Amino acid sequence: MTDQDFIPTEYEQENIKGKTTWKAPSNIALVKYWGKKANQIPANPSISFTLDTCATTTSMSYKKLDNPKSDFSFELFFEGRQKESFKPKVNTFFERIETYLPFLKSYHFKIETSNSFPHSSGIASSASGMSALALCLMDIERGFHPEMTDSFFRRKASFLARLGSGSACRSIEGALIQWGHHEDIQGSSDLYGIKYPFKAHEVFENYQDTILLVDKGTKQVSSTVGHDLMFGHPFAKPRFTQAHENLSELKVIFEEGNLDRFIKIVESEALTLHAMMMTSHPYFILMKPNTLKILNKIWAFRERSKSHVCFTLDAGANVHVLYPESEKEKVSEFIEEELLQHCENGQYIQDRLGLGAIKY
Ligand code: PMV
Repeated sequence: MTDQDFIPTEYEQENIKGKTTWKAPSNIALVKYWGKKANQIPANPSISFTLDTCATTTSMSYKKLDNPKSDFSFELFFEGRQKESFKPKVNTFFERIETYLPFLKSYHFKIETSNSFPHSSGIASSASGMSALALCLMDIERGFHPEMTDSFFRRKASFLARLGSGSACRSIEGALIQWGHHEDIQGSSDLYGIKYPFKAHEVFENYQDTILLVDKGTKQVSSTVGHDLMFGHPFAKPRFTQAHENLSELKVIFEEGNLDRFIKIVESEALTLHAMMMTSHPYFILMKPNTLKILNKIWAFRERSKSHVCFTLDAGANVHVLYPESEKEKVSEFIEEELLQHCENGQYIQDRLGLGAIKY
């Protein structure tokens, strides 16, 4: 498919007004997307676990305007309060997707959004937020094109979400989502995320993710700036090649359920992401001393307990602790006794693999 396939044909009908609500999950990448080309095209393919608890719920009320203007017309409420500071981001999103949703300027929208995770927890809400918004907009468009298939609906929602925030395209479905063209993965595309088309061993069912909130402050460097720093980065080329190789290796690992090999790829990907940050110009470090304390304790615990617990990191200081459901009891005990002391106010979020967005 190409971009052109997402430009709709003339609408069969238009609804004057209505309301739609979607809850979309966050996701955590196992092979990381870091570096992009124009129009949010990833420099390398990535794969993620869709989460369950961390999610954004968004309602969109829409009403046809009698006199459409040249600007987008919308109000935005975050957790019940009008939030002017979020509007520029939504406006930019609307600008990027207008070609694919030509009705946007003919309507007034009231957007009401809230997150399941604590505000300013350091957990990025852009993936779940953009995905929820894209799903609401697709629901409105489906009202104009009632014969739209579910698979096209999800694909276009992912395509639109990508234009809001790259990783958001992996937040439509669950539980394992691949984004970015890879020669071994049929159907993979730079334009949208797809459900991982191969077998995943039962050991990955209901995989657990305890998110340790190490630092709740705002990041010194946004991911937009970070992606841009991969331009002219001395290690960019080998890094992009490595991501392709890691995805090929994961294919076998997912099939066989080999957790030792899984851990090696996932932890290496997390540290490579941060290594790219540390070796860009300008260079920066998003991990905190407590992040490193946690990683070392995870390694020590794994060594002595023969557990399959491992970590991954986002573009921030928080740590995602990943482990199979069968080890939940012993890993939870370890987290409680040894890791929570390194979290800001002892805070964490207990999450696990999720099945994707739902409509209310
Ligand atoms: O979607 P963005 O532009 O916020 O970039 C996200 C990048 C990482 O979270 C660091 C990696 C990933 O693949 O999700």
